[in-house]
Amino acid sequence: MKQDFAVEETIKARSSVRTYDSTPLTQQEEQLLKEYMPKIKNPFGVTVKFALLQTDATGKAEKPGTYGMIKGAATYLGAFTSAGPLAAEGLGYSFEQLLLFASSLGLGTCWLGGTFQHSRFARALQVPADAYFPAVSPVGHPLGKRRVFENLSRWAIHANGRKSWAVLFFDQDFSTPLTPQAAGEFAAPLEMLRLAPSAINRQPWCVLKDHDAFHFFKACTAAKAEEDTSLGLDLGIAACHFALEAAEKGLPGHFEKLTAPGITAPNTLTYTFSWVLQETPA
Ligand SMILES: Cc1cc2nc3c(=O)[nH]c(=O)nc-3n(C[C@H](O)[C@H](O)[C@H](O)COP(=O)(O)O)c2cc1C
Repeated sequence: MKQDFAVEETIKARSSVRTYDSTPLTQQEEQLLKEYMPKIKNPFGVTVKFALLQTDATGKAEKPGTYGMIKGAATYLGAFTSAGPLAAEGLGYSFEQLLLFASSLGLGTCWLGGTFQHSRFARALQVPADAYFPAVSPVGHPLGKRRVFENLSRWAIHANGRKSWAVLFFDQDFSTPLTPQAAGEFAAPLEMLRLAPSAINRQPWCVLKDHDAFHFFKACTAAKAEEDTSLGLDLGIAACHFALEAAEKGLPGHFEKLTAPGITAPNTLTYTFSWVLQETPA
């Protein structure tokens, strides 16, 4: 399904915004976000709930904090779900779709999975105690100029860079890198995946193309994938970029977790799901 916004243009223009001008969202911006929320469905069958929090960005009123990471944001979005299979991937997918939509409106956003006061945000956003609530994001009007602190944080984690195709994408087996030429019409969805944000910009994903299927792997052992759900958030975000761009390019397909994907992978990679091209009737 095509999106209500220009996917490729939005992904290319997006970067995390940590400095805002303190103005609240306009009524129209808030309404557009709220109207878009119920339209978001992830392909993993995970029910994700969103909440929006208006705070006083300038005044002294007590508000949940971000350890100084975010400045001047009056509004925050949060996403939560119940624990279960592919909960992190589903939440990553859905929350990223909401944040891309916000970016398409010219608003700034920034995934916060670590630098936010979890219990205070949970209270303010009325998140149920037993929910899986891994992230929030400010949403608002960028100040336009990054703070020195923000630039330093970006520099420390190489936030402007991305890994090369040669280490992220593979053709039939893990000893053959996939080139944009060999990827053909899928070069654009893979490139949009490559631009996806991830925690500390670690880009912990690999994709193997095998005929009409793209197999998605977490770049970690199975034990690490089990223990660290934030890797699932990153993979869900990447899957969102891939799938939205594929839809924009008119490439139909669906995600599924194959029981026997029949791929020999090093044990530093963990198979998670596949995107399978849907044959169009002749
Ligand atoms: C799941 C996730 C968690 C993140 N957590 C934080 C965080 O706690 N604090 C922060 O300042 N940035 C956080 N980020 C933002 C990343 O550092 C940022 O997306 C990455 O460095 C790439 O930069 P870009 O978004 O500007 O392209 C997070 C991003 C993701 C996807």
